[in-house]
Amino acid sequence: MSIQEIATKPFEGQKPGTSGLRKRVKIFQQEHYTENFVQAIFDAVPLKGATLVIGGDGRYYSPEAVQIILKIAAANGVSKLIIGQNGILSTPAASNVIRKYKANGGILLTASHNPGGPDNDFGIKYNIENGGPAPEGITEKIFQNTKTISSYKVLDAPKVDLSRIGETTYGPLKVDIINSVKDYVEMLKGIFDFPLIRSFLKSRSSDFKVLFDGMHGVTGPYGRAILIEELGLPSSYVQNDTPLPDFGGGHPDPNLTYAHDLVEAVEKNDIAFGAASDGDGDRNMIYGKGAFVTPSDSVAIIADWADVIPYFKGGIKGLARSMPTSKAIDLVAKAKGVEYFEVPTGWKFFGNLMDAGRLSICGEESFGTGSDHIREKDGVWAVVAWLNILAAANKDSNKLIGIREIQKEHYLKYGRSFFSRYDYEEVPSEGAQQMVKHIDSLIAASDFAGKSYTSNSGIEFKIAAAYDFNYTDPIDGSVSKKQGQVITFSDGSRVVWRLSGTGSQGATVRMYVERYVTKDAGEAELARPTAEGLQALIEVALQISNLKQFLGREKPTVIT
Ligand code: G6P
Ligand code: ZN
Repeated sequence: MSIQEIATKPFEGQKPGTSGLRKRVKIFQQEHYTENFVQAIFDAVPLKGATLVIGGDGRYYSPEAVQIILKIAAANGVSKLIIGQNGILSTPAASNVIRKYKANGGILLTASHNPGGPDNDFGIKYNIENGGPAPEGITEKIFQNTKTISSYKVLDAPKVDLSRIGETTYGPLKVDIINSVKDYVEMLKGIFDFPLIRSFLKSRSSDFKVLFDGMHGVTGPYGRAILIEELGLPSSYVQNDTPLPDFGGGHPDPNLTYAHDLVEAVEKNDIAFGAASDGDGDRNMIYGKGAFVTPSDSVAIIADWADVIPYFKGGIKGLARSMPTSKAIDLVAKAKGVEYFEVPTGWKFFGNLMDAGRLSICGEESFGTGSDHIREKDGVWAVVAWLNILAAANKDSNKLIGIREIQKEHYLKYGRSFFSRYDYEEVPSEGAQQMVKHIDSLIAASDFAGKSYTSNSGIEFKIAAAYDFNYTDPIDGSVSKKQGQVITFSDGSRVVWRLSGTGSQGATVRMYVERYVTKDAGEAELARPTAEGLQALIEVALQISNLKQFLGREKPTVIT
């Protein structure tokens, strides 16, 4: 087995975003393309003698990419690779394995919730030793390396059989192929009250049906191991649980639009607790019959009930949300007397706070929920957190307390933040830029605060403030500017506009609307359908931003 140096030339556009390099499979399949990027990682981070974790969501092109990483890692002096069987580890499972085995980092092969298959997306993401995504300093170095690369090193060796669990060698490299699910199940068993959940599910088997939808992504086997094998549910309570390289042709993103299989089945079969996770297992949706839990409410409710979860028995440190996420969790933090943070969109912003011991539970409106047990958001964790809460809530109750009752109780205690996000996908970039400029001019105008706008139904909203969201990280002092445009109103309502950082064609504009109703508004008002509760505010937001004209769109592509 010899090490060879292969001559190459830089490719344009190998700039990793916060979630790594994401491109069409066909782009990754070009000769030298994947090799260049992997070598750029090894040139950016000192990994001689290091242990790295390799895994991903099993999407199309993953096996090929793992073999490429093996060759390049061996030639670059890496000491050991821990690889999920068949190259599979969900994103949260990979974060756990990096931390548990004290690896120096990991390479995750995923494009998250983006569709997979030969004509869709593939991705490569580098995580650091805390188990979280690499910070910008590192991704920028990787990018710079891709612009000057002239050769990469490979070990000339036959392929490794990725299906065979156990230790082997690959030239100078130690390779350990591990069970993709086992460490993750052990971790969750150490966090949640499995005996309590098991006995709750058993005693309620007639009126508390469960359905978990893996969306043909990576979480099927995790869901099965936990819900069926550990918690004793019937095997039919898990669906779309075979991971497929193209996710069965679907869009593996758990929201009301793309997880329609789950929504339909829950409604049709009177399922009390439905849940889904995305392609790589870090997102989640909680949906019971007639009861959709917004991600903003979900994290607030989990935080409120934290003391029934053994992992949080010693108390919680702090709470946090991304800026556009509704302020529901802030109210929980105030009630519990713990500090809370508002960070820019992107899970990496939570990592520093967790490493500093100041953050326990956090979430984002984009269907991300998690805690400091790892450094990625965690879909299956959120599902089991909800089951733990429901089990605790039903402990001394004859009548079933379901998702809806938990929500209702939360609103009666804290009031309700009606929240919705409108996505305008793949709009012309010029129009989006013009809209941003228009809102900038409102932010700059000294007479904007105090102005009033009226909805079609005659409800008046008065501007309280308008600003760009800038963030200074309280731990390392780094500054992130212009992370969204915010307008607040005198009644406490808020609208945010942001350009997506994850779209791949044109621009995607997101508009987030939030209206807070106090607990004294009464049950009927607190229980109103979200769309109804927000209609007037949405009309006013569209008016202020002139969005329809700038984007040339009458309606959003997706409403969540
Ligand atoms: C990824 C990140 C999330 C973030 C989301 C924002 O999923 O992991 O932390 O919330 O992107 O996406 P957007 O398209 O709104 O920039
Ligand atoms: Zn994901």
